[in-house]
Amino acid sequence: MVKILGVCGSPRSGATEKMLSEALSSIGNVSGVETEWITVRGKKIAPCNNCNYCKREKTWCVIKDDMQELLEKFVEADAYVVASPVYVYTVTPQLLAFFSRMRPLFHVYPEKLRNKFGVAMATGGMRNGGQEMTVNTIINLLLAKGINVVSNEIGGYAGAMLWSKDKEALGAMEDDKAIESASKLVNKLAEVALIYDAGRKAVNV
Ligand SMILES: Cc1cc2nc3c(=O)[nH]c(=O)nc-3n(C[C@H](O)[C@H](O)[C@H](O)COP(=O)(O)O)c2cc1C
Repeated sequence: MVKILGVCGSPRSGATEKMLSEALSSIGNVSGVETEWITVRGKKIAPCNNCNYCKREKTWCVIKDDMQELLEKFVEADAYVVASPVYVYTVTPQLLAFFSRMRPLFHVYPEKLRNKFGVAMATGGMRNGGQEMTVNTIINLLLAKGINVVSNEIGGYAGAMLWSKDKEALGAMEDDKAIESASKLVNKLAEVALIYDAGRKAVNV
């Protein structure tokens, strides 16, 4: 079984959550794929403060908040769909805090993120408000954790980008081309994860 985890970087239930959930549900009942999603909404996630406890003690983060439960889900998954609204031309501070807290994962337990795959999505209130910049930032966040990035199908390039017109879930559904692009992206990710899983079993790595 391959597990695909959605990570919603919006602090509210709006356009980003809608795009993510629509795309994940488009995988439907593809055999061998299981989906789940987590969100930063309502969660306490302090940013990393570079205390170096994790690196020094070779253990998990000393800060105790909602990140433990979120990280457990992250580690269990095989592939990720990371989605964020554009906030001042980049990802939300909540999503950045989430990624900053993965320091022990990458520095102390790097094997836990080895050979995982990820894709990126962004929603912006303006037509050209920085969705592409935000997708690129998410891609860089994934790369910074050693996660392999999967590109979109033809026409999508780096990821999926939606124009919400600041209308939350309704705005997301009005951008049907973006929902279609997000769904293709997630289906491609599922395909890659399934092929990788079969290959890994075949070569016994
Ligand atoms: C602090 C803040 C900064 C924003 N900056 C941008 C921006 O630079 N470009 C843009 O297109 N939209 C910007 N927006 C609008 C959101 O990206 C847009 O409404 C998005 O779809 C919200 O996603 P959500 O409904 O999932 O929360 C900003 C919104 C907030 C609250």
